Amino acid sequence: MGVEVTVEGLTKHFGSQAIWRDVSLTLPAGEISVMLGPSGTGKSVFLKTLVGLLKPDQGSIWIQGQDLTTLRERQLYEVRKLFGVLFQDGALFGSMNLFDNIAFPLREHTKKPESQVRDIVMEKIELVGLQGAEGKLPGEISGGMRKRAGLARALVLDPEILLIDEPDSGLDPVRTSYINQLFIDLNAQIDATFLIVTHDINTARTVPDNIGLLYHKHLAMFGPREMLLSSEEPVVRQFLNAQTVGPIGMSEEKDATELAAESGMELPPLPPIALQLGTSDGRPRQGEKEPGAWCRENGVTPPPGSFASSHAGVPGVSRATGTAPEPVGA
Ligand SMILES: Nc1ncnc2c1ncn2[C@@H]1O[C@H](COP(=O)(O)OP(=O)(O)OP(=O)(O)O)[C@@H](O)[C@H]1O
Ligand SMILES: [Mg+2]
Repeated sequence: MGVEVTVEGLTKHFGSQAIWRDVSLTLPAGEISVMLGPSGTGKSVFLKTLVGLLKPDQGSIWIQGQDLTTLRERQLYEVRKLFGVLFQDGALFGSMNLFDNIAFPLREHTKKPESQVRDIVMEKIELVGLQGAEGKLPGEISGGMRKRAGLARALVLDPEILLIDEPDSGLDPVRTSYINQLFIDLNAQIDATFLIVTHDINTARTVPDNIGLLYHKHLAMFGPREMLLSSEEPVVRQFLNAQTVGPIGMSEEKDATELAAESGMELPPLPPIALQLGTSDGRPRQGEKEPGAWCRENGVTPPPGSFASSHAGVPGVSRATGTAPEPVGA
């Protein structure tokens, strides 16, 4: 069913370098969340902290009533079985072929007979579209294929929580769309709690139920997709719309002169909120909400044209029902 993950007041330093402070959020059970943020803001460090590979300086990570930050190595080992992780670099063993890489967690953590291991591995290989490549070494395949192999490995233990670091970096746009569709379908199928780190704004706008933004050593905002996509908060607005006007500069924050030069500049209107990407067979996901529901419940008028099915080039229109809800706020 997926489990809820609640982070309270999490703070992490490396030596004297603060990475982020006082991060609090809840990843709702079975929902897909995306974490955004400029390069170097500590997104990968956040994932590694969630899975217990890095220790925070302060704060708690609650999973099934246990605070991960206080667990001993043995208990942590048990809790880790709930997680599937795709690391940013894939983290495959270079001397093992893809089959053995993907089989590794099963052989390490379970006593399943080899025939069952083979069935599970081949099922995941097929799921990520790597049939025929199982005998290859990681060095013999493309970066995109390595990502997909890492994803297959993250899935073999049927995780309750799936942490995925930049699945789409180095992927072409078509494969990015395929992998996004795979996440939605997978989420419907296994109901796990997903946290995806991405730099792809289109992915962030159309795939998740919730979006978070790490910026300038803190969590700028975390909440339902519609909340962030309709937000006028300057950092959130700038990041989610990939604009140059706003507080974020080429290297971290803009200085006062740069900001003054922008004062009075008219910001382009917020673009419409696209429909969320649906499952390929039209089956609803556990975490799926009615389009526009958050806006309605919170009295927020979404940007004109939101939730219409006809935005050219924007995914999110593949709902098998084919019926688009009435646009709201137009
Ligand atoms: N094990 C470590 N020891 C010391 N510093 C580290 C360690 N891991 C990460 N850092 C530092 O923490 C900061 C955040 O790194 P992180 O990899 O989490 O960024 P990121 O947001 O994932 O960036 P990107 O989008 O480029 O992947 C960086 O300054 C990095 O140098
Ligand atoms: Mg990273």
